[in-house]
Amino acid sequence: MCGIIGYIGGQPALEVALAGLRRLEYRGYDSAGVAVVVDGGLHTLRRAGKLANLEKALAESATSPRGTVGIGHTRWATHGGPTDTNAHPHTDCTGAIAVIHNGIIENFASLRAGLERDGHELASETDTEIVAHLLEDELAAVSAPDGTAGAGAAEGAETAGASRLTEAFRRVCRRLEGAFTLVVVHRDHPDVVVGARRNSPLVVGVGADETFLASDVAAFIAHTRSAVEIGQDQIVEARRDGVTITDFAGNPVEGRPYHVDWDASAAEKGGHPYFMLKEISEQPTALADTLRGRLSNDAEIVLDEERLSAQDFRDVDKVFIVACGTAYHAGLIAKYAIEHWTRLPCEVEMASEFRYRDPVLDRSTLVVAISQSGETLDTLMAVKHAREQKARVLAICNTNGSTIPRESDAVLYTRCGPEVGVASTKTFLGQVAACLLVGLYLAQVRGVLYGDEVARYVEKLQAMPALVRQTLATIEPMRALARTLADARAVLFLGRHVGYPVALEGALKLKELAYMHAEGFPAGELKHGPIALVEEGLPVVVVVPSPRGRSHLHSKIVSNIQEVRARGARTIVIAEEGDTVVEPYAEHLIRVPATPTLFAPLVTTLPLQVFACELALARGLDVDQPRNLAKSVTVE
Ligand code: F6R
Repeated sequence: MCGIIGYIGGQPALEVALAGLRRLEYRGYDSAGVAVVVDGGLHTLRRAGKLANLEKALAESATSPRGTVGIGHTRWATHGGPTDTNAHPHTDCTGAIAVIHNGIIENFASLRAGLERDGHELASETDTEIVAHLLEDELAAVSAPDGTAGAGAAEGAETAGASRLTEAFRRVCRRLEGAFTLVVVHRDHPDVVVGARRNSPLVVGVGADETFLASDVAAFIAHTRSAVEIGQDQIVEARRDGVTITDFAGNPVEGRPYHVDWDASAAEKGGHPYFMLKEISEQPTALADTLRGRLSNDAEIVLDEERLSAQDFRDVDKVFIVACGTAYHAGLIAKYAIEHWTRLPCEVEMASEFRYRDPVLDRSTLVVAISQSGETLDTLMAVKHAREQKARVLAICNTNGSTIPRESDAVLYTRCGPEVGVASTKTFLGQVAACLLVGLYLAQVRGVLYGDEVARYVEKLQAMPALVRQTLATIEPMRALARTLADARAVLFLGRHVGYPVALEGALKLKELAYMHAEGFPAGELKHGPIALVEEGLPVVVVVPSPRGRSHLHSKIVSNIQEVRARGARTIVIAEEGDTVVEPYAEHLIRVPATPTLFAPLVTTLPLQVFACELALARGLDVDQPRNLAKSVTVE
């Protein structure tokens, strides 16, 4: 899940690469590096730590490379610790080739052994470095008199050289197993930047007389909004005036051009000190945008890219939801809605476990894959497994043009805009909303709900962005409370029904942002063991269901609050306005607006996001880039 940018054009490549890396740093930030082609040479600089370390080193270096062809990388370590030597770009023995990589090359150990036997000297512990050395060998092979230079052999010297580089690179890619986005420059071929992808993202930005290759459009939206998708197992040769795309066998391929709707300012902090705070505040809009236009004049839910017929959805007899982390929690919420509305069995599974336990899937199974990035490898592999078993796959995704939607049969995009803070906030709300739409859609095509009933639910959903706004406007008491708990050792989160996944999400947010021990439990499960954790002063956050929706659950959770209070816990209670029953048991009472039962997570999650964010800030932590994490997890 590293960030990658490649540039060829008329601007100083170093500046373009650094600006791109600033936008990509959320993908990984334990080291960074650049390589610029200058006058037949290659100027490379790498530094462990955040991008600022690299920028400082560049500022202190006597020479600033002025070339207009270059690559940049921000790393999330997999093979080898975050050191200067392991930072990308990596070079070959001759220093002519520089390579950057995102992903994991699974057969790197055997390839490395072969290279070392042949006399190559590898400096780092990375899987990436072997690519530079393999390319060195393959380039020598295709350039040898008996080598096959491909189409370029008959062309001008420079074009032929570039073609040879591309052909050699193709040969290298065919030898690699695993997941990779690779981008390469060569000091003797300043007319091209070459990229490749398998199971890892790569997009092209097409500007006026300049071309960008990047892990995501955020890297180049300041320069161009014209993008081209690079498909699975494809190679792209980027020149100033455009690109040539081929598959790994060398066959020409048409890229899919598309327009990027996001503008550069959407990826900025918009006046907030942290992206996370900005993204929390954007939730009413993210939710409204996700719901917008989803109901047709015939009261039908509209999916974005549908390669499934209504009959396919009618044939479904079981639903699986696969996702990771926060997206998995959105899936847990979806289960309540899908089973309630459609009467179909619905299982929710962590994507990383799904394919390893041999789930029972067939043509009538609908697998819903939820992913903000659309690149999470665990989820992607679950999707591939499901499709191999002939199940139908519907993706819920926030990133247009990403891999998971492409590998799926149908897509519903959450239109939350770029999420830069590593912790998912606004996209969680988008995912919950999209899941609810999928539940309604299924219920409708299967005839379990009538069109007017679906329309009524959608109308109620459309009222939710205003309630989200209202919740955020009155959330200050939660901020103030969180600041007083900076020294707490642990926090428990309890919920019932859809409040249970919300409790899990509250605990995950606190773990990842504040590095605190936090657990979420179904409130009824507490007495079966976890209640032993409760001690004097332990903060326990309780997500209380509406007394109007499920009154029996409400009274049960009130008993659970009393149980933890009796053991000395400090109770922080999230309850809807007008719920007076909980008042005597809540040391701190945080109010949320009343909503329909199944929509409650859209408001009850918000105080928990704010709680984790504020508590982490009070502990002096960076909420946008928590330690050990990355925004896009493209390794298994
Ligand atoms: C937590 C968080 C992660 C992601 C998970 C899946 O705040 O953001 O748990 O939800 O890594 O990522 P996507 O949704 O991109 O598949």
